[in-house]
Amino acid sequence: MKLLYNLNNKLITTRKYFMHYLSIEGKQKLKGYVSISGAKNSALPLLAASLLSKNKINISNVPDVADVKTLLKLLENLGATSKYDKNHVVIDTREVKSACANYDIVRKMRASILTLGPLLARFGHCEVSMPGGCAIGQRPIDLHLKALEKMGAKIELKDGYVLATAEGGLKGATIIFDKVTVTGSENIIMAASLAHGVTKLLNVAKEPEVVQLCEVLENAGVKIDGIGSANLTIVGSYGKLIDMQDFRVIPDRIEAGTYLCAGAITNSKMTITDVIPTHMESITLKLMQMGFGIETTQDTITILPADKILPVDIETSEYPGFPTDMQAQFMALCTQADGTSIIDERLFENRFMHVSELCRMGTNIKLKGHSATVEGNTDLNSADVMATDLRASSALILAAFVATGTTKVHRIYHLDRGYEDLEGKFSKLGANIQRLSE
Ligand code: EPU
Repeated sequence: MKLLYNLNNKLITTRKYFMHYLSIEGKQKLKGYVSISGAKNSALPLLAASLLSKNKINISNVPDVADVKTLLKLLENLGATSKYDKNHVVIDTREVKSACANYDIVRKMRASILTLGPLLARFGHCEVSMPGGCAIGQRPIDLHLKALEKMGAKIELKDGYVLATAEGGLKGATIIFDKVTVTGSENIIMAASLAHGVTKLLNVAKEPEVVQLCEVLENAGVKIDGIGSANLTIVGSYGKLIDMQDFRVIPDRIEAGTYLCAGAITNSKMTITDVIPTHMESITLKLMQMGFGIETTQDTITILPADKILPVDIETSEYPGFPTDMQAQFMALCTQADGTSIIDERLFENRFMHVSELCRMGTNIKLKGHSATVEGNTDLNSADVMATDLRASSALILAAFVATGTTKVHRIYHLDRGYEDLEGKFSKLGANIQRLSE
C-alpha cells in the first residue's frame, strides 16, 4: 500500500485517502430483503432549498453518501451549521452571509449548481463556480442561466464562475424550458419561490424528486399550482425567507432499481422494502417484459425469477419514461437474456463508458451513435474493471455477480457518491462482496 503524507509531512491515515476496490465473487444467488435509502437526487435540491428557510430544519431519511456530505460542506462554507447523525440532518442556514460557492467544492460534485437559484434569490447576487462536464457528457447549464435572466438576473461568466446579480430581487416571469432539465427545473422553482410576483414555468421536469421539492416548498407556504405536471405557477414571497417544516426524503428509485436488477441478473427471489412502487413503474414494467415476476405492496417490491430471461428494447427518457440512471444496470442484465437487446441512450451523449469495461468481462456489446446492441446468452468472466461514473459502477457489480471467478471493481469512490452501504446491503442478501484497499 502506498503511504501518503500531507503538506506538514504528517502521515495521512484516514480512509478517504486510500483507494479502495470491491472484490466480488461470481456465480452467486441472492435472497432476502433489502431496505432502500433516501434519494440522493431528492436530498440534494432539498438541502439547497434550506438556503430559503428562516428556520432550522430536521430532515430524515437522508442517505449516507458522499454527495450529501459534499453539499453539507458547501453549505457550511457559506455559513450554515449542520449536524448529520444516522440519516438525520439538522440544518440551519440563518447565519449564511456568503453567496460564493467556490471551485474547490463544486468541482467535486456538479449538483452544487443547485445553490445558484436559492443564493441569487436570497441575496440578490452570488458567485457559483461553473460545474463543467463530467464522465457522462458536457452537461451545460445554459437553461438554468437563461431562465434566471428571464427573471431579471444579469449573468456574467468570469474566471470559471457564474457571477449573477438581481438588483431589487428576482422578478416573476414566464419561462419555457427548451429541454426538460431536472436540476434546471429545481433551481428555477427555488428561485421563483422567493421572487417578486408570479412565475409560470412550462416544460418542467416531472421526476418524483422535483415533485418532492415542490411539496416541501408548498408546505413552507409557497403557493405552487400544477405540482407533478409539466406546467407550474409559483407565487414568490417577495424576497422573504420561508417557513420550511421538517420532512422525510423520498426513497431512492435508482438505488431500488439497481437492487431489483441484482435480483434479476442472478435470477433470484428478492424483496426491496421502504420504496414507493409507483415511482418505479418504467423499471418494473421492463423487468416484467423480460419475464420476471413482480409483486408489489404499498412499500415493497418483490422480484421473482424468470423461466427464461427475454431480450428487450430500451430507450431512456425523462420521467415517467425509462431513466438514464438505470441504463447501465439494464445493459448488464441484457447480457444474460435469451437474444439481442437494443438500448438507446437519449439524454447524455457519453453515457456508454461502462461498455468497454463490461466487454473486458466478456460481453458482446456493439455501439453505434447513441445506440447499443447487446448480445445475450453471454458467459461472463471475472476481470479487473474500473468504475467511470456512479451508475456505471453498479453495472459492473451486477455483471460480477454472474461472472466466473472474482472480479475487482476499482475507483469505487464513484459508487460512494450515491449508494449507501452498498457492500453491507449486498452481503445481507448473501453476496460475497468485500471492500479492500489497493
Ligand atoms: N441540458 C442542457 N442544458 C441545461 C441543462 C441540461 O442542454 O442547462 C441537457 C443535458 O445535457 C441533458 C439533458 O438536458 O442532455 C437532461 O439533463 P438534466 O439537466 O436533466 O440533468 P441534471 O439535472 O444535470 C439530473 C440527475 C442525474 C440524472 C439526470 C437525468 C441530479 C443531482 N442529477 O441531472 O443523476 O442522470 O438528472 O435524469 O438530480 C446520477 O444520480 O447518477 C445522475 C447523473
